[in-house]
Amino acid sequence: MPIADTPRPADALDMLEADHRAIEQLFDAFERADAGDHERKDSLVQRACELLTIHTIVEEELLYPAAQARIDVDEAYVGHFLVTTLTERFATLRAGEDGFDATFKVLKANATHHIDEEETTLFPEMRKMQIDLVTLGAKMAARKAVLRERIAEGAMAH
Ligand SMILES: [Fe+2]
Repeated sequence: MPIADTPRPADALDMLEADHRAIEQLFDAFERADAGDHERKDSLVQRACELLTIHTIVEEELLYPAAQARIDVDEAYVGHFLVTTLTERFATLRAGEDGFDATFKVLKANATHHIDEEETTLFPEMRKMQIDLVTLGAKMAARKAVLRERIAEGAMAH
């Protein structure tokens, strides 16, 4: 998406929207993958789950508290709870096993709903509030770096 005509620096909401696009791309790649290519499906789901996990944590720790005073974010928290429950299933569920494709389908539907809600309601509302979204974005970037490192260490332990 060209941002040449937006002089402001990337802020928290731009970063979260970029996460959304990356997650959607992984979902699309999964849909295009050969049904029998289990290795590719596992790796795409793994990457999507990592992105969703980090995204969910930074939103709950940094974004929703900033919005909460004026915007109802209860539904967003419940949406996250569902997405997290589904991503946790993929810690042990592998492509080709019973329930893998169904779990992916429900995860995709829930994550897509979350993305739509945020981009049509929450983010536009937050842009109207007096929040320093650039500073919030910097905090998010720092937190994401720590979380990415933690996930990489966890993956190495297996
Ligand atoms: Fe989000």
